[in-house]
Amino acid sequence: MDVEPIIANTIKDIRRHVASARSEGKTIALVPTMGALHEGHASLFQAAAACDFVVASIFVNPTQFGPQEDLARYPRSPQADLALCRDNGVHAVFMPETEEMYPPGWLTEVSVGKLDANLCGRSRPGHFTGVATVVAKLFNIVAPDKAFFGAKDYQQTVVIRRMTLGLNYPVEIVVCPTVRHGDGLAVSSRNTYLSAEHRKQATSLWGALEMVASLIRRRRPPTEEVVATIREHLATHAPEGVVDYIQIVDPADLTDVRTTKRAVLVALAVNFGTTRLIDNVLVGP
Ligand code: PAJ
Repeated sequence: MDVEPIIANTIKDIRRHVASARSEGKTIALVPTMGALHEGHASLFQAAAACDFVVASIFVNPTQFGPQEDLARYPRSPQADLALCRDNGVHAVFMPETEEMYPPGWLTEVSVGKLDANLCGRSRPGHFTGVATVVAKLFNIVAPDKAFFGAKDYQQTVVIRRMTLGLNYPVEIVVCPTVRHGDGLAVSSRNTYLSAEHRKQATSLWGALEMVASLIRRRRPPTEEVVATIREHLATHAPEGVVDYIQIVDPADLTDVRTTKRAVLVALAVNFGTTRLIDNVLVGP
């Protein structure tokens, strides 16, 4: 029988529960989420079970949403989320209110340098500052040994790794593979916004990435050719998708690259109506 997770709404409470687990010699895992949990999150909880005490945070972080973005309509499903946590062995769920995380007087942010100059950072100014800030707060609150993130948000993993290095957090960052539906579409809470037609067209994001990944492995073409191939594929298979970006970058620092001779990250963002989908593939050297 799965045990019901402890629910903590305050920083004081979650610190108490973590301290008690620590005093029993347990290692602590943190899986930060914004709720609307799905199989992608579940895979992180399962990986986190390598630690003795798994903390999931569920917090729709306002500082990472732009003024035109979907904060107000971000899906919320606390009951289903708790059930998914329970079914995947989460020991404690930290679900703070906004004021608990951002008390009056709060003003300190974590800057991410040039890491947000490309990819999602370009179309979402301030987004990664918000992400780095809230994850820093969660690291300070939970003080985990390991923290788990998904490769689907690749830029986020780079930002978090660099923040951990730069601010000396004694936390091991673990990045888990992207969980996909049978047709290849990366599982995302935003998929539920898609019309049936857009949902069908959305499968071509991964279709295009898979295709160019094998192209790159075969003959290492210049990046222009890779981008053009993706563009063509999307124009044919996702005519209603509006491309935000298709970029090929250095996986370590996210700067643009001209050739595909070394390891590259191919990443894209496509809007279907007001729904923005992202995906990426890492191709080794
Ligand atoms: P959220 O979008 O809820 O995602 C929480 C974690 O789940 C992230 O690390 C994300 O990469 C991972 N994830 C989402 N979909 C996935 C999939 N299909 N396969 C594998 N992992 C997946 O990312 C955030 O929240 C926030 O920015 C957060 C880090 C919590 C800071 O607010």
